[in-house]
Amino acid sequence: MSKEVRIVANWKMNKTVDESVEFIQKLPITTCLVFIAPPFPALYSCAQNKPAMASIGAQNIHSEANGAFTGEVSAHMVKEAGGDFAIIGHSERRRIFKESNSFINQKVKQALLNDLIPILCIGETASEREDGKTLEVLKKQLLESLAEIPPENISEITLAYEPVWAIGTGQAATAQMTQETLFNLRKIVQNTWGEECAEEIFILYGGSITPENIEEFLQEPDIDGVLIGGASLDHNSFSKIIQISGNIVK
Ligand code: PGA
Repeated sequence: MSKEVRIVANWKMNKTVDESVEFIQKLPITTCLVFIAPPFPALYSCAQNKPAMASIGAQNIHSEANGAFTGEVSAHMVKEAGGDFAIIGHSERRRIFKESNSFINQKVKQALLNDLIPILCIGETASEREDGKTLEVLKKQLLESLAEIPPENISEITLAYEPVWAIGTGQAATAQMTQETLFNLRKIVQNTWGEECAEEIFILYGGSITPENIEEFLQEPDIDGVLIGGASLDHNSFSKIIQISGNIVK
């Protein structure tokens, strides 16, 4: 099965509405799929002004459909504003905002109910890796975050493996180490939801990706794309990244 490479830009709490729109309008044309998650205030304007190869989405959604949740945004609101996807369970949300796997599971369900692609992030900390617990931690995050999701929905999910120690540190995992981890994640998907789901699910890597190291990652068979923070904020770097990615056939 051939897959288009997916490149996700997570802008975190950076860029105003004007800056966001200007950035996406000046992106070079590419054949990879570009997913951009601006801050909430810029989502609608970006969706209105996006180039054809781009999808716009949210960095987070709430676990409930509506109600008294001051400061939160629902999956339906994101969809109505022109969003196509939602990043769920980013390690910053897990760590700073104390999001649990069961809370994240509710968000995945909300995304699916509202026809948003859930981009589910999982990843081990440095100490978990040092203790040899990487796979155990990832398996728990994966299975609990996707609890009760039927096989027919699994292929709609994009999974992002983001080792916490590699995010924003300039210390990316090696492509080879990532390939091994993603191969194991695909095995878990296969054992839980079946062979077809394991083939169809998109699995990305995230953590200190740059124009210099991206090609090496995308050449690995199980890495279907990348999720980028820092390097997605700089127009030059991100343009290079999507051009390189557009030349890679999976
Ligand atoms: P980084 O961030 O590319 O700056 O390491 C990745 C992320 O936060 O998902």
